[in-house]
Amino acid sequence: FVGEVDYHETVDSTNDVALAHCRRRAVDGPLLVLAAQQTRGRGRGANSWWSVAGSLTFSLIISPTGLGVSQERWPQASLTTGLSVCLALDHVVPGIRSALKWPNDVFLNGGKVCGILVEVAEGSTQSLVLGIGINVNNSFVDAPPELTTIATSLADATGREFDRTEVLIALLKQFETQFRRLAANDPQLPADWLQRCALRGLTVTIETPTHRTTGRCAGIDPQGALVLETVEGPERFFGGVITSFE
Ligand code: BTN
Repeated sequence: FVGEVDYHETVDSTNDVALAHCRRRAVDGPLLVLAAQQTRGRGRGANSWWSVAGSLTFSLIISPTGLGVSQERWPQASLTTGLSVCLALDHVVPGIRSALKWPNDVFLNGGKVCGILVEVAEGSTQSLVLGIGINVNNSFVDAPPELTTIATSLADATGREFDRTEVLIALLKQFETQFRRLAANDPQLPADWLQRCALRGLTVTIETPTHRTTGRCAGIDPQGALVLETVEGPERFFGGVITSFE
């Protein structure tokens, strides 16, 4: 599936390296930018993502057109990436069910184990950069309490260490399978997002640039929108930041 690998000991952000590749030339086949360490890893919005020893940080450049994903489905790339991570974790940590926190965080045992940042790269051809940070052998057990309660790693969840190459291979296999399903308009794909939805049934507050809305989460609809039952009826969100869920 992956045509090229660009490995770095240290980079600012693998997403920035990937975006620079796409500006310089047309990247057709999937290209993997992998780094042992990031000094300025970016998250969604103003978040940053520290890559510490033991974590896995990479960006995968894919050509949605090359894979046959029609443009109206591009916004579903984040959920498809998140679902791929969940399904890969089913193999890596069998018995522990991971969940998808819309739009693209992956939770394990109630803590964030993976953050995803999907960006559109403008070059001679349009590509998508799937940026993934996954906590593998790094631990949050001795981290400050504000982190321990929200973050976890595969090692924290299982009490053992993992071969990061094996985790990476499991992830790449799922990216290939799930993006092919997206390209084929597989009608079961939205059902799989819904089944993994960590927010379903919870009271969720979401902020968009203009509004702040609270409601009971009914799930994710077939277009990938988050659905909240509010006092004014069901509302659908294609973007926004979840500021609380309980
Ligand atoms: C988030 O939780 O808000 C998303 C975090 C995404 C982090 C990954 S690490 C690899 C890639 N390079 C970056 O700079 N960010 C993503």
